[in-house]
This record gives sequence, structure tokens and C-alpha cells, in this order.
Amino acid sequence: MLSYASFIVTPKHYVLSGMGVWSIFMADSRTNSAAGPPPAFGADLHLELRGPGLRAGLTDALREAVRTGRLATGSRLPASRSLAADLGVSRTTVVDAYADLVAEGWLTARQGSGTRVATRVPEPCRAAPDAPRARSDEHRPRYGLWTGEPDLTNFPRTQWLTAARRALTAAPHDAFGYGDARGRMELRTALADYLARARGVYAGPERIVICSGFHHGLALMAQALRVRRVRAVAVEAYGLDLYRDLLRNAGLHTPPLYVDEHGARIDDLARLRGVGAVLLTPAHQYPTGVALCPERRTAAVEWARATGGLILEDDYDGEFRYDRQPVGALQGLDPERVVYFGSVSKSLAPGVRLGWMVLPEELIPEIVTAKGHGDYMTSALEQLTLAEFIASGAYDRHVRSMRLRYQRRRDELVTALRQRAPGIRVAGMAAGLQAVLELPRGTESSVVQAAARQGLAVRGLTQFGYEVADCGWRFPERDALVVNYAAPSDSAWAGALDALCRVMP
Ligand SMILES: Cc1ncc(COP(=O)(O)O)c(C=O)c1O
Repeated sequence: MLSYASFIVTPKHYVLSGMGVWSIFMADSRTNSAAGPPPAFGADLHLELRGPGLRAGLTDALREAVRTGRLATGSRLPASRSLAADLGVSRTTVVDAYADLVAEGWLTARQGSGTRVATRVPEPCRAAPDAPRARSDEHRPRYGLWTGEPDLTNFPRTQWLTAARRALTAAPHDAFGYGDARGRMELRTALADYLARARGVYAGPERIVICSGFHHGLALMAQALRVRRVRAVAVEAYGLDLYRDLLRNAGLHTPPLYVDEHGARIDDLARLRGVGAVLLTPAHQYPTGVALCPERRTAAVEWARATGGLILEDDYDGEFRYDRQPVGALQGLDPERVVYFGSVSKSLAPGVRLGWMVLPEELIPEIVTAKGHGDYMTSALEQLTLAEFIASGAYDRHVRSMRLRYQRRRDELVTALRQRAPGIRVAGMAAGLQAVLELPRGTESSVVQAAARQGLAVRGLTQFGYEVADCGWRFPERDALVVNYAAPSDSAWAGALDALCRVMP
């Protein structure tokens, strides 16, 4: 039998209307008035209570409403006592339904702020409201360990807002104009200071160009390389196909360099023809998690000096090292041969879409030209906010706090595997947001599938491998999982870890 409930979300109150249709105003759940029609500004939410069990029916209906976005992120649910009274069910039914949804990560319950829709619900995709509740529903990913994202629920909203307010208040009038294609001087100055201090980057503000993240910076670079008639950019044999595709779409060949436990095999550059640049993740190879060893760092710089080539250094998560001080950026070895790329996508959030390039002097006009042709500049207000965020010390504090959180997560991952799957080795350094779990030969795809059946989305290392037929070496037969332990919210982490351990061979 179907019954219908209708939530009306307003800042005021909620009521019960007759005939099995509930109209509920959710924000102040202590006020309960049956009088008067719902205010016109309320958002009507239709709930279908299905099946024989009241608790299961209510849980399903609320989950569905959150999943499809009809119950908005952060909105407050009615107090259990009031909702129970209005629905004519026991309070335990409502309390249990809420508890189930908190455990699943759809809702959060905090002393003093009630039960709210979680800021990051477990399933990113929004199913059509009437999608059939088919078998596949059981298998939808409840936990995501596959994205490259940091824990978005820990975005420092308050501090960011403070920085934004200060930045906007202090912004000169010219900040609202088109401005310098290199980006705001305030941000370039703050970054020059931060990068020199934290990453050993040699960077006067005049060498820095702001972009909308690494992806954008690499696109500008590819454009400049094409103008220079470069034909190929060597890449690490493991990496994101996104960046390889970007280079290829710009008309560049992308011969791969073999990656072993010392990082990319730089010696192989000498055997490749027409290579004008090499794209590296020296501090923490993505995704295998090794550092480029000192000899190869030197060899890379020597190759660049000898050939006039460029090293494109993607320092995507250089701040996150847990066992020692982070290794400094390669750029410090030769600022005229290394282009340094950084972004806030791991340290803050990818949605901010801010990144930077620290350029050899001779490249600055070429990159500025490329930037001027396409995306002239990144939002000045976001830049000023980030400048203020860095200059006030909030960025350092946030990175330090996230470093502790991610380190704890990584430790918990290592400990859980040691106890529950002692045969599985965690490869790579204690660093970054992802770890590589070595699996027995031939098990990778079955483990990925088993994980999916547990509601756990995770990727196999094979998906990051990149090989060409005539590269002169064979890809190692390596079965592994790439686990982004940083992505789940705090409330989802324990469940994700448990599900991961359960599928380990
Ligand atoms: C290897 C690597 N480089 C760079 C980035 C940052 O990219 P963007 O700044 O475009 O978000 C990421 C983000 O996930 C990454 O995985």
C-alpha cells in the first residue's frame, strides 16, 4: 500500500494535514501548528511510504528524498517526537529511521543542531525520482574511495567566509575590472611567500601565473609548447588519462616513461625522439605513491639543460607527507628549466578552481598570450580571498589540520589491513590522499567487482596504466587497488574501511 507524505520546508514550522497527506514545515521542529495553509514560500516535498514496515518505509522515503536532492543539503529535519506525532507513528520508528540514515551517511545528528541532511551524501549521482527500485539499487556505491577528492565535508567554510569578507572589504576598485592576465598581485605575492617557505619553490610574484587549477595550467602549457613546435611531452606510465588526453588533443605525442619504486625512469628520456618536455609528479608519483629519487631528480634537470627541454612539475599534493618533512619541489633545482604547477584541489577543494604556475622567465609572455586568448583570467574575488586566506595563516592551519586527519586515516587503513588482511601490502610513501594496496596476481578486477557489490567504489591500478606498443619495455604485471582514503566524510570512513577489508582476498 502506498501512502504519501508531503514535506513543506520553511523557516517556521510544520503541520499535519489530513487524508494521509502530510505537509511538514521543517526548520523549527518544536513549533507544531495545525492552523492555516502552508506559506507560499515553502518547498513541497512528496514522500512515498512503501512496504509493510513503517520504519523501513520512512527510512526509504527519506533516503530517496535526500538522494534525489529534494531534501536539500544542510536542511534540518523535524524533531523525532514531533514528526512521530504528526505521522501517527511511534517516536522509536522515527528515531530508528533517522539513526539508520545517519549510519549510512545521509543525515548527520549533532547535539544542539538537530538532525540535518548531510553536506555530502554518499551517492553523488541523482537518480530520477521515479527510478525503479531494482536490483541495481542494492549495488549502488555507498562509499567512494575512487575519486581524487579531499574530504569535502571539511572545507573550512567559516575561515573562507572570513577571508572572503576581508578580501571584498579591502578590494581596490580595479579588482572589479579585467585586470592582469597573470592574476592578482595580492595572490601572486602571497603564493610566492608560501611556496618558497613550504615547498622550496624559487618564485618571485612576477614568475607566477594564476590559473583555474592544474588542468587549465597544463592546457595553457600545451598551447605554448605547440607554438614552440614541440612534438611530444613524455609522461609517467601511470597517471590520469585526463592529462594525457589533454596533451594529445593539443596535438602532442605522449610517450610514457616506465615507473618503478624510484619514480619515473628518467634515463629513458634520452631514447625518446622529439620530446620537448616531460610531465612528472616528483614529490609523490600519481597514483603509485613513490618519490622521484635524488639521482633521477638531478638527471631530469640535466636532461632539460642539455636538450633545452622543460620539466612540468605537477606538485598536486606536496604538502601532505606524514613520515617526514615533505621533499622540496624539483623547481628549486633549476627555475629556468622547470615549470611548477600547484593547485588548491587537494589542499582545500577542487571546486574552488584555483591553481598556479611558476614559470621560467622566458616562458612568461608565451603563457600570458595563451591565457589571454582563451580564459583571460580567473575570478579576481576568489583570488583575493585565497590571498587573504594564505596571508592570514588560515591556509597553513587548514593544511596542518588536514594532514593530521589524513595521516590518521592512513594509519587506520594500514592497521585494519594488517589485522584483517595481513597478506595485503600498502605500497608507496606515507603521503598524499591515496594509497596503493598490492593484491595477489590476477585478482584486481575481481576485487574491484566484489567491492562494487559491497557498495564500495574503488579503482584498480590498471586503470591508471599507460603503455604504447613500441615503448621498449613491458608493463609490469601488477594487481593493485588505488584507494583514496581522504575522500569519505568522517561519518562514512569507518563503513568504507570495513567494506574494503571485507573484499580483500
Ligand atoms: C595527479 C593530479 N594532478 C593535479 C590535480 C589537480 O588538478 P586540478 O587543479 O585541475 O583540479 C589532481 C587532482 O585530482 C591530480 O590527481
